[in-house]
Amino acid sequence: MNKKRWYKDMVFYQIWPRSFKDGDGDGMGDLWGVLEKLDYIKSLGCDGIWFSPIYPSPGADCGYDIADYLDIAPEFGGMEAFRKVLDGCHERGMKLIMDLVVNHTSDEHEWFQKSRERIDPYTDFYIWRPAGPGGKLPNNWDSNFEGKAWTWDEVRGEYYLHLFAVKQPDLNMDNPLVREEVKNILRFWLDLGVDGFREDVITFISKKEGLPNDRLFPIHKGIRHYSHGPHIHEYLEEFKRDVFDHYDCFTLAEVPLVWPKQALSYIDEDKGQIDMMIQFQCQCADCLFTDYLPTKFSLRKMKKAFSSWQKKLYGRAWNMLYIENHDHPRIISRYGNEKYWKQSGKTLATAYLFQQGTPFIYQGQEIGMLNWKPEDPEMYEDVQTRYQYAHKNLRKSPKKRLQKMWRASRDSARTPVQWDASENAGFTTGDPWFFVNPNYKKINVAQQEKDPNSILNFYKKAIRLRKTLPVVRFGSYQEHFPKNSKVYTYSRRMPGQKLLVVCSFSDKPAKFKLPNGFDLMGSRLILTNYPAQEKLLQPYECRVYYWKS
Ligand code: GLC
Repeated sequence: MNKKRWYKDMVFYQIWPRSFKDGDGDGMGDLWGVLEKLDYIKSLGCDGIWFSPIYPSPGADCGYDIADYLDIAPEFGGMEAFRKVLDGCHERGMKLIMDLVVNHTSDEHEWFQKSRERIDPYTDFYIWRPAGPGGKLPNNWDSNFEGKAWTWDEVRGEYYLHLFAVKQPDLNMDNPLVREEVKNILRFWLDLGVDGFREDVITFISKKEGLPNDRLFPIHKGIRHYSHGPHIHEYLEEFKRDVFDHYDCFTLAEVPLVWPKQALSYIDEDKGQIDMMIQFQCQCADCLFTDYLPTKFSLRKMKKAFSSWQKKLYGRAWNMLYIENHDHPRIISRYGNEKYWKQSGKTLATAYLFQQGTPFIYQGQEIGMLNWKPEDPEMYEDVQTRYQYAHKNLRKSPKKRLQKMWRASRDSARTPVQWDASENAGFTTGDPWFFVNPNYKKINVAQQEKDPNSILNFYKKAIRLRKTLPVVRFGSYQEHFPKNSKVYTYSRRMPGQKLLVVCSFSDKPAKFKLPNGFDLMGSRLILTNYPAQEKLLQPYECRVYYWKS
């Protein structure tokens, strides 16, 4: 099929369903709630939705542990609600993509239940190994969430591998029958009309033969033996050839640990197996590889990450642009400044929305939601957070450990969307499944819809601009003053048009510098977050200038 790359013109909205909007009053976000809010999403200028998993699941990792790939969880409204949402999207000219989680299943999936009993054809659906002498683990790999990557199964009398939580056993993708099942899942949803997939940790699906010990990595032991494993390109190619090539759809792969050069082996527009990728470098300007190893925010690191992806993919592959998702704390609390909440929220939006690629907005980002900071660690729900709190930094005081969770926990960004100032932030009329951030009276959608200077209205304007100015889609990218640690300046150019984006990340006035060859004469200031432009940039000021010849 000759594909039209329609995703290049789009802006996506990510829904983490439990906390988006409850439509039936049971306290849990659901698809009825989504249906109510489709016009809201459209009003932002978004024309696509990515759903984090909505399949039946015991919820050990909030849906990323799937118990049935071919259904929608009853608590989200089941298939009936899903069809309505899908139709509702298509009627509005919006696309819908699902989360494909096939590195692992839930341990409650029928395949696992049969595999542990050695019932064929499921016997080899997972990665089982006998115990070594004295019950020794098969290798020294760590799981990404809870201690070691192996758990003993009494029924089968063997260890199974889980790169994530204990309740998320890894599938054995080397087994062709497993790959056939993956293709059946893909066809099932594509035949139903979905427009593509976000593929969860997809570059972990091929493990190195023999599952060798990892003698190099001090943390995340094993990752170099399962990330970009020996058959990864082959398997992705198989999915593409047998399924994706036959549908008008697109794929977005989540890829931890990847650099642009290597990314091209997956997303090169002529030779790649997938269309876009979620890379993590843009999330590492205030940490070392994971949010649990925080460092001071470095604007230079952020700029370097943005610029290298912009430059190296240009003309060869397409970027996925994001600053927030369900796996990281809120961006204003990290790269911005809660004291300059509104200004820094707008500067962050500007910094990424004028780059080349397809932007994604995570629910609540568009109103500048901030990190949730519970007083009691027991309030955390996330499996990773609970493990980290209970097992790491035990020599530090409980208060210090809790503060670390505020900065690192995924739950910091998983509280219900703040719709209005009524009880439970208008998220539910029932008892909410999770805590609402107490700041909802100040930060909510209803209030920001009324305020022309709100973060929400700023997002709308920025999205409108990026959709109307061809230079944002087609223009080349150049970063200016890369060594400047306070201001991010970049330009975009194409014949007849250019754009200059200047974003201050300082809480003090900063020098405004024009790059060589730029003259404000003849330019139009098309976006800014301050009413008047002074000689100096005000704290977290952003400006976008546009020239047309
Ligand atoms: C991905 C998801 C994350 C999930 C993990 C295991 O990183 O984004 O939420 O916990 O994979 O499926």
